[in-house]
Amino acid sequence: MAAKNRYNKKADASIQRLQSSGREMRAIMIRLIDIHKEYDNGTKALKGINLRIEDGEFVFLVGPSGSGKSTIVKLLTAEITASKGRVIVNGYNLNNIRRWQIPHMRRTLGVIFQDFRLIEKKTVQGNLEFAMRTVGASGREMRKRIPYVLDLVGLEDKADAYPNEMSGGEQQRVAIARALVNNPRMIIADEPTGNLDPRRSLEIMTLLERINAMGTTMLVVTHERDLVNRFSKRVVAIKDGELIRDGQGGYYRA
Ligand SMILES: Nc1ncnc2c1ncn2[C@@H]1O[C@H](COP(=O)(O)OP(=O)(O)O)[C@@H](O)[C@H]1O
Ligand SMILES: [Mg+2]
Repeated sequence: MAAKNRYNKKADASIQRLQSSGREMRAIMIRLIDIHKEYDNGTKALKGINLRIEDGEFVFLVGPSGSGKSTIVKLLTAEITASKGRVIVNGYNLNNIRRWQIPHMRRTLGVIFQDFRLIEKKTVQGNLEFAMRTVGASGREMRKRIPYVLDLVGLEDKADAYPNEMSGGEQQRVAIARALVNNPRMIIADEPTGNLDPRRSLEIMTLLERINAMGTTMLVVTHERDLVNRFSKRVVAIKDGELIRDGQGGYYRA
């Protein structure tokens, strides 16, 4: 009898664990709690931002120039630290992260910038190999992974091209391939279409949407409202360092 009770208790406990893990099945990728950022010159770039992004989401972060978007990106990549509040990225608490842990945290992220930031002296293949080598990938892994990501971004025949032989849209697709090559859990793109014409911009955004559909969480910073309005996604809007809207749908809708 006593043994049976013990068994039941154990079973109950494991059911409870299952239920509570079910409730939190979607892991939290980003958590900002009451974030304030004041730069050394006194500029208050963020004034109490709260944000939660879960595994698998596609989120547009929008707002006018100077509203604090890139400041949020730099907090998430641990380039800068908050003046007040808590930042948690992929389970790493950036408030008390150790210096040696920062590269590990960054490997869970793929970051894409407006100006591509490719190595001009290396081919597409060389750029991707460089990114993989920094995480200690083997030659075998590179031979397998690089053609896969190039195919994914539609550049399977450009492995031997140099960045300056490619259009802006192509270069940004290389940057996306590089962001993906180490299989990150999340991609953060800061104005990825800022240097591209509208047609290329739409192609890039569609590509990011497709990558998200394959499971990578996506945070895309932009101030291009026409582009945002073409996709039905969660839109987080900030203005003067404050979050003014967080909802599904276009840039304008309340
Ligand atoms: N390193 C810095 N030092 C001082 N002020 C900064 C720095 N970086 C950004 N700012 C200021 O912080 C505010 C937000 O900038 P930013 O986050 O780059 O905005 P966004 O990306 O939305 O254009 C702006 O007023 C900007 O001038
Ligand atoms: Mg910016």
